[in-house]
Amino acid sequence: MTRPADFLLTGAGELLTLDPGLGDGPLGVIRGGALAASGGRIVWVGKASQVARSVRLARDGQELDAHGRVVMPGFVDSHSHLVFAGSREREFAQRIAGAGYREIAAAGGGILATVEATRHATTDELVALSARRLDLVLQHGTTTLEAKSGYGLTTADEIKMLEAIRLLQDPHPVEVHATFCGAHEVPPEYRGDADGYVDLVVNEMIPAVAGKRLAEYCDVFCEEGVFSVDQARRVLTAGLAHGLRPKLHADEFSASGGAELAAELGALSADHLLRARRDGIRALREAGVTATLLPGTAFFLGLPYAPARAFLDAGVRVALATDFNPGSSYTPNMQLVITLACTQMRMTVEEAIVAATLNGAWALGLASQVGALTAERWCDLIVLDIPNYLHLPYLYGVNHVRTVVKAGQIVWPPP
Ligand code: NIG
Ligand code: FE
Repeated sequence: MTRPADFLLTGAGELLTLDPGLGDGPLGVIRGGALAASGGRIVWVGKASQVARSVRLARDGQELDAHGRVVMPGFVDSHSHLVFAGSREREFAQRIAGAGYREIAAAGGGILATVEATRHATTDELVALSARRLDLVLQHGTTTLEAKSGYGLTTADEIKMLEAIRLLQDPHPVEVHATFCGAHEVPPEYRGDADGYVDLVVNEMIPAVAGKRLAEYCDVFCEEGVFSVDQARRVLTAGLAHGLRPKLHADEFSASGGAELAAELGALSADHLLRARRDGIRALREAGVTATLLPGTAFFLGLPYAPARAFLDAGVRVALATDFNPGSSYTPNMQLVITLACTQMRMTVEEAIVAATLNGAWALGLASQVGALTAERWCDLIVLDIPNYLHLPYLYGVNHVRTVVKAGQIVWPPP
């Protein structure tokens, strides 16, 4: 039986399906692979030699010849702070000169410096700034991105950020999923009264955000000196009651019990985890919570990396993301994150590729939709100009992405 299609990819030297049932090894590699899509969804995956008897491409359908290159799912970057105004290059220079990230934050810099700039920006300004960043995200091969609020810290400014995220999605090929992160920091007006600020988040911000359907997820910076486990629990529980699925900045600078809280609440993910304890790791595995590791942050702040092997060897699902933000990790590049995961956290190349695609989708509750190249998922793929997939982390610091396809359409380079 031949299936009708409006998009056909041929000539993949290696097609990484991410389904071990479809091809070789943990990445399900089909050598000489091809793939067809219809209406944005994948309808057929197989060997190029089978295309003629399997697929009927519409006359006005689009064909893409990968010319022997590597084809894989677009990256799913499940943790970013894409939307913000201003920049913090002076803080970057101060850190190089020896100042600590939290020391800078305590002096009113850090997140609060970005809050100040973001409060002064209009929605349109935020959209314009973020759209340029989103272009970089796309050019580096990410087709699905999570983006958080958290630089507004008033009800109106948090809503402004989330509205900017919503406005970004429409004309842009990258699929953006919004997280409400009002509990990202205690704003200056509530200094010394984190509980009072949590009241505002719970009683005013969450109902307003949920009422306008501006976010799918709720996140808290659970950290010593920011929000405690009890405060984070209050926020995430209120979010859950309003249909926002919990995620968590957990155990980044200290072991504060964030991983355990993520497990208790059945969060989609616990993120950072540089300092996670053994009990926290076990709890994540038992609760099926994805551990999202952000090695770009450890790299950029000069911190020890998260113990990726401890998570993997305990059977925890591990995702990788950029944490793209102006303070602790200013990069949109998932390829670089994969290299860091391999060289600094000793993840295998295969583990890192799964973590940057399918497991990122798990961290967003989207694993049946994106993150792998199998029938019925969205046809989101990238063509990499490398001879085999081991070159992805191996030749590092350059962009291997040659072509990006989102929902069965070539979106980069622009047609
Ligand atoms: O994930 N840890 C908290 N939030 C961000 C940093 C945001 C910033 O520095 O602006 C993070 O690293
Ligand atoms: Fe973050």
